[in-house]
Amino acid sequence: MAYQNFNMDHQWLPFTPNRSFMKDPRIFVAADGMHFTTHDGRKVLDGISSLWCVTAGHNRKPINEAIKKQLDTLDYATAFQASNDQAFKAAEMIADLAPGDLNKVLFCNSGSEAADTSLKVALAYHRARGEGHRNVFIGREKGYHGVGFGGMSVGGIPANRKVYGSALLPRVDHLRFIHDPVSHAYINGVEPEWTEDLLLELENRILPLHDPSNVAAVIVEPISGSAGWYLPPKGYLKRLREICDKHGILLIFDEVITGFGRLGVNFGADYYGVVPDMLNFAKGVTNGVIPLGGVICTDRIYDAMMKGSANSPEYAVEFFHGYTYSGHPVACAAAIATLELFQQENLFERAGQMGKVLGDAMHSSLKGLPNVIGIRALGLAGAVELASVAGAPGKRAYDIFMECFHNGVMVRPAGENVVVCPPFIVEKEHIDRIVNVVADAIRKHA
Ligand SMILES: Cc1ncc(COP(=O)(O)O)c(C=O)c1O
Repeated sequence: MAYQNFNMDHQWLPFTPNRSFMKDPRIFVAADGMHFTTHDGRKVLDGISSLWCVTAGHNRKPINEAIKKQLDTLDYATAFQASNDQAFKAAEMIADLAPGDLNKVLFCNSGSEAADTSLKVALAYHRARGEGHRNVFIGREKGYHGVGFGGMSVGGIPANRKVYGSALLPRVDHLRFIHDPVSHAYINGVEPEWTEDLLLELENRILPLHDPSNVAAVIVEPISGSAGWYLPPKGYLKRLREICDKHGILLIFDEVITGFGRLGVNFGADYYGVVPDMLNFAKGVTNGVIPLGGVICTDRIYDAMMKGSANSPEYAVEFFHGYTYSGHPVACAAAIATLELFQQENLFERAGQMGKVLGDAMHSSLKGLPNVIGIRALGLAGAVELASVAGAPGKRAYDIFMECFHNGVMVRPAGENVVVCPPFIVEKEHIDRIVNVVADAIRKHA
């Protein structure tokens, strides 16, 4: 019998309206395949891969078995001045999947830690090369890079920033949010084309303002995930790469969501044909089962950091950074089993195929419903954007999310969007159910 005392006396829930949750708790006690079981015995379809994590579906035996075996073999070992066999194997497998010379995996435990790690690598790398003055970071409006002070500073979701004031990093600028609610309201599996050059702003305003020689890195999600699945214009990321190269600026892709198959290929970098200098990952790498994150760096960055320490003795640490649980053996064993499962079941390819089914279903069933002002689908994810309720931003999406939950489907409210991103094992019947339940909820909350 699962524990039943959910009175909120002792748990403070993250990114959750605690006061409303208390009145209507959503408690999961089990999960299998595409479904959760709630504390009151209901089945709920996981339409969001448990926040983009459980891409291979719940309760996957090969992952569970690998974890159990690892617990009985090497439960934990310090990550500093030593390592473990699982971390080496996981790093090799991850580097094999990554494009270009992204070869060096620096493990951490979450997407937030990956963001802060990548920003610190950028500063340390430039300093190691004698360019310690490069300390400006550029993020993007509506970008999300977790909740550490670094990630929050380069992130661009106003609510996540507004109470932290001067505690945010100085010397951070943001590229503009790109979305055209008129010409690109409805996008199904294609890259939106713009006539305007959206990166002129970077070249003509942001870089001259700070002077390009002071800029350490630009960090972007290939697709703005947490904001509500906003897609980059065709050619945008390529051009961003060119501008960064021209000025010696590092390009960081935060692929916590787009990494490991969501777009039907290994990484967003592959989908868009652009290799960043660092690629941040977390979530799906272990199917969400155990926390693991990391930053994949190019050989060039790693080599520069080693070379930068050429005048220090060999016993000296080259990069003063790391987490107690970096490369935790159980998390790495889970990652190895997950990556093997992805391959055995061709899950990335499947995500691409089912993404088309999802995009078509969302467009055919949701377009034209009351308050629907946009639908964006690419890879196995889609967002339906709704007209805001006057004076109550985000309320409509929240009400729709709650309605769907009560009707047995978990979706995600993100601003004025309802986001759907199911596990890659999703079947057409699940997609139809998700879309029908969302459609009913949209009608009900019109
Ligand atoms: C792109 C991106 N970066 C970073 C994070 C933060 O990850 P975590 O919650 O594991 O710290 C997220 C989480 O959703 C994310 O989507």
